[in-house]
This record gives sequence, structure tokens and C-alpha cells, in this order.
Amino acid sequence: MAAAGSDRLARIRKTLQEHGQEHLLAHWDTLNDEQRGALLADIEQVNFSALTQLVERNVRRQEPFPLPHDIQPVPFYPAQPGIDLVGKYADAIKRGTSLIRQNKVCGFTVAGGQGTRLGFDGPKGAFPISPVKNKPLFQLFAEYIRGTNRRYGSDLTWYIMTSPQNDAQTKAFFAENGYFGMDPKRVRFFQQGVMPAFSPEGKILLDQKHRIAFSPDGHGGSLLALRNSGALAEMAEAGVEYISYWQVDNPLVKAIDPLFIGLHDLTGSQMSSKTIPKVDDLERVGNFVVGDGRTMVIEYSDLPDELAHARNEAGTRKFDAGSIGIHVLSRSFVEELTADASHFGLPWHRAIKKVPYVDASGRRVEPTSPNAVKLEAFIFDAIPLARNPLVLQTSRAEEFSPVKNATGVDSAETSRRDMNRRAAAWLDGAGYDVPRKADGEPDGLFEISSLLALDAGHLREVMLSPPTIRAGQAHYWE
Ligand code: UTP
Repeated sequence: MAAAGSDRLARIRKTLQEHGQEHLLAHWDTLNDEQRGALLADIEQVNFSALTQLVERNVRRQEPFPLPHDIQPVPFYPAQPGIDLVGKYADAIKRGTSLIRQNKVCGFTVAGGQGTRLGFDGPKGAFPISPVKNKPLFQLFAEYIRGTNRRYGSDLTWYIMTSPQNDAQTKAFFAENGYFGMDPKRVRFFQQGVMPAFSPEGKILLDQKHRIAFSPDGHGGSLLALRNSGALAEMAEAGVEYISYWQVDNPLVKAIDPLFIGLHDLTGSQMSSKTIPKVDDLERVGNFVVGDGRTMVIEYSDLPDELAHARNEAGTRKFDAGSIGIHVLSRSFVEELTADASHFGLPWHRAIKKVPYVDASGRRVEPTSPNAVKLEAFIFDAIPLARNPLVLQTSRAEEFSPVKNATGVDSAETSRRDMNRRAAAWLDGAGYDVPRKADGEPDGLFEISSLLALDAGHLREVMLSPPTIRAGQAHYWE
């Protein structure tokens, strides 16, 4: 046993030396047995065969984004179909509804992020957000799925990707809250992979003397995690064909959208995406484009300024298709991509962040300015790998208002405001006028649970008599 242990240590030491990472064992002599075991297990999680190249290409410097030679605006399906598309949209809704009824669709929320900008103590999905009931994000999604099940007689499964950092807390949050009324068997958690943080010179950082500073490997890590966790196999077994993907921070998302799912299926798309018009040329969202013939997303930071500001003849913005992290993926596409895990990898995106670390003397340092390189993969980098990728436009007011920041743009305050506005607009649309304040905002708080209605049209069908609406008051319907 002891010999096997020393063999393992010797092997690991040699690997570390070969890759210039021997500092990871610098504090070995000060560790107890348990800590030593934890450190070796951490080190064994690092993919050393790819490390040298990774450090050269993405850590020590960032290879510039390989900008396509030819960049064109992406063709997309409009939010409102013109006369030429009315029939196709009707067929798609029918098809999507039928796929939902047959449980060939599952929900998938990526919730492994660290939510550093929001600074909330707990998984972001536990953040309370709805305007009247203050429901947390996870509850809103659970109710969307339950509302869908009610409407279509389905029994959908919801996959939630966590990270090693928030998995236990996320599961406990669901258990404490009775899975928000879902059948616990239909809520499936799995963990994503991790990447070490690096010093700018390419040294892996230690979080403690016996722990590597790992962080989640980005929402793009979800593809491999779907396979490695067994979720893909489980979906295949259950006959699930389509994965409806959304991010945990957008309470307005139409989590399961018959039109989107139906279009994906009818057009033979392997990966579909929703887009919204940008608020300004330089809005900090990715841009859908066709680059050298392929549909792709170029990040705002990589889109050349002259393209960001380019105009069509009519004076409208030429590159106006913002990416909002809402997709449908075919299960078979994720299976194909990840079939040979050793060859599959999305490109790494580099960010310089503050990461606490243990220095050579064994002291833990809390940096006051960004000191480390973190690498993440992004889900949208799978789009150019897909056959017939489809882009569907939606409206920001209806479907996108993420909670990213503690204050200001994309904060809890703006997201709550947008939920309130949307509920008021649905009531107006159903014929029940909502009083407005002088600045045009709804006069009062309005919240409509997805258990009652999933969209404005649905509300019109289910709310048959005028509700009592009092200016300045809070109103809730479910
Ligand atoms: P963001 O890019 O907004 O990152 O994630 P974040 O980690 O939540 O927040 P910041 O940047 O630290 O403030 C967008 C979506 O992708 C998920 C997040 O949970 C969120 O739903 N995500 C992000 C993951 O699931 N895993 C990751 O490694 C990163």
C-alpha cells in the first residue's frame, strides 16, 4: 500500500516536473495524510497532455480571435412572421406542441456559474426576483415547466447543471423547497467540469496548500458534462430528442417554446438559437453573424468597430442580432460532438480575474486586483459545428432581462422592472387595462405565474373575466 502510494507520488512528481508545475507539491511536507490525498486527487484531475499547448496559446498570451475573412449579417426567422411565414410558424407550433406532448423535449438550465458580478451568497438560481412574491429564479423555471405540463399534458424532465462549488447548496435548496412542486424524479442534477486558474506565467494556482484553485469550465463545458454525467444516455433511454437550453439568470425565458422547438425540428437544425435586436451598436452581447459561410457568434469585444457601427441602406444597424443564451440542441448532435471526448473541445476564452492563492511561502493572498487567468468554454462555439443552425428572433421585452450585476444595467432592479412590465403588457393584451404612472411604468406590481399562463395569448384564453386591478397595489395570479 505504502509502495503504491509512493509510486503514485513519484509518477505525479515527474509529470509536474515535465510541465513546469512542481510548485504544486511545494507544501507537501506540511500536509497531513488526508490533505495529501486531496491534493493528489486534484492534480490527477488536470489534463496534462493538453496543458503545455493550453498554457502557450491561452494563458501566457491570448491567440487573437481568428476573425473570418468574410463577415455577413445572419439570416434569421423574425419574431413576427410575415405573410410568407405565417403557415410555417403555425406548422412549427403544431409540431413543437406535439413533441412536448410526447415528452421528446427536456429542459436544461446551466447553473454552474459563480455569479461573481451579482455577489449573492448562494447559487444564483436561489436569488429572489419576482416582483410580487419574490420567487427565486429556480421556482420561476419550475413553474414554467409545470405550467407547460398542465397545458399540454406532458411530464417533462428538467436537467440542471451545477458545479462542484455549488452542487450541494443547489440540491439542498430544491429539497428544502419541495422541488417547487415538481416530481423530484423529474429534476436531474449533474456537475460540470472544472479548469485550474493560472498565474499569467502559466503556473497553476493553489487555493489552499492542498487544493488547486479550480473553477467551472464555462457553459460550453455543459456538452461534455451532459455525456460524462450519463444525462445523454438517460435522455436517449427516455426518448428525449431535444434539449431546451437556457441560463439561470434570465427570469423571462420561455423555457419550453413550441414555436422554437418546432422550427428546430422542421428545418433539420442541430442547434438553434434565439436572438434579439441590440440596444446599441456596442451592447455587451455576442453577435450572430455568418463568418466565411458559417453561422457563428462573435463576441462584442472581437467584433471590429466598423462592423459594430455599420448601417444598412435604410440606416438600420447591419449587425443587429444579439445572442441571449437560449438554444435548442438535438440530443444526437451533442452525442456526435462528444463521441470521442479526447478529440472534442470548444475553444477556450480567457479572462483575467481576482483569484485568491497560496504563495511560495505558504501564505494565502487575497488579491486586490486581477491576478489570474481563468479559461472558459462557451456554448455558442458549438453553433458553427452544427448542421442547418437556425436563428429565431424574439423580443427583449418578452424574453430577456438577465440578472448579472448587483446594480445598474442587467441587475435585479431592471429584471424585476421588466417582469412587471411584461405582466402588465399581457394584461393589456388580454383586454384588462393596467393603470400607468406619468412616466409610463405600470402603476402597481403585477405578477402572473406560469402555472396560470405561459404567454399573452394563453392569458387571454384563461383569464375570462376582468381581474380586480387597483392602482399602486400588488397583484398576483396563479
Ligand atoms: P455568466 O457568463 O453570466 O457567468 O453565465 P456567471 O459565472 O454566472 O457570472 P459572473 O460572470 O461570475 O458574474 C451565464 C450562464 O452560464 C452559466 C451561469 O450559471 C449562467 O447561467 N455558467 C457559467 C455555467 O453553468 N458554468 C460556467 O462555468 C459558467
